[in-house]
Amino acid sequence: MWLFLFADFIALHIQTDTTMSVHKSDVKKITTHQLQNMKERGEKISMLTAYDFSMATILDAAGTDVLLVGDSASNVMAGHETTLPITLDQMIYHASSVVRGVSRAFVVVDMPFGSYQGNSSEALRSAIRIMKESGAHGIKLEGGAEIKDSVTRILSAGVPVMGHLGLTPQSIYKFGTYTVRAKEDTEAQKLIEDAQLLQDLGCFAIVLEKIPSELARRVAEALTIPIIGIGAGPHVDGQVLVVHDMLGINKEFKPRFLRRYADLHAVMTDAVTNYIKDVKSLDFPSEKEAY
Ligand code: KIV
Repeated sequence: MWLFLFADFIALHIQTDTTMSVHKSDVKKITTHQLQNMKERGEKISMLTAYDFSMATILDAAGTDVLLVGDSASNVMAGHETTLPITLDQMIYHASSVVRGVSRAFVVVDMPFGSYQGNSSEALRSAIRIMKESGAHGIKLEGGAEIKDSVTRILSAGVPVMGHLGLTPQSIYKFGTYTVRAKEDTEAQKLIEDAQLLQDLGCFAIVLEKIPSELARRVAEALTIPIIGIGAGPHVDGQVLVVHDMLGINKEFKPRFLRRYADLHAVMTDAVTNYIKDVKSLDFPSEKEAY
């Protein structure tokens, strides 16, 4: 009898170990060091936006390296015309939902407009709230020399910072349009200097948005940290897209840099049309779908 009990004990523990071996905590997580290694060995970094738990779960399981809780949530999720209205509380809500869906990806959260530009103490307070309340792994902010103090202060608290240069949507009313940035020498030169500054301060990566491909190449070659492009051509260390755009949920937005990997607008419209038809015709629910 003791032999049987012993066998049961062993079986139970083997079963527990097997169950644990597929547990979330055993998945190798992406870190800033791994992103740096990816640049060094020439492996491109994949990054997508995510704003909610369900989408984050899919993107993470598919193997996306970095999930960006972008302030584009202001447009995509809330229907605002710009990224300016979204608040710190709303970004934390989106970020904590994304973090709960992730086992492997590195989660970066955009600091919203007005939460870091004013002074560095407020910037640090905002960054700490994001990290503490959402469980995210790093933050992103837009700009170069003009936000140097905020970047320094946040980094000094041990928070990984991703920069964002080129078309910075929080400055849309300064730019006036969403057109390609840094085509002129003066703006290109400032972008190069800002990128170098962000690296020197200690940022772990930089997003370059909508700038000429050759300029992006120069920055990616000159800097040692990963450069992630959106509308910045192929010669960078990784790519980021807004997930609703690349899945074709948003039908109207068709910039040249966007590749659509699905037409979910059509798929979803079709599914919903069929559902409505079935409800109206009493086809749904059937006997089998009722209790
Ligand atoms: O908010 C966002 O989605 C972004 C990406 C466009 C890089 O910042």
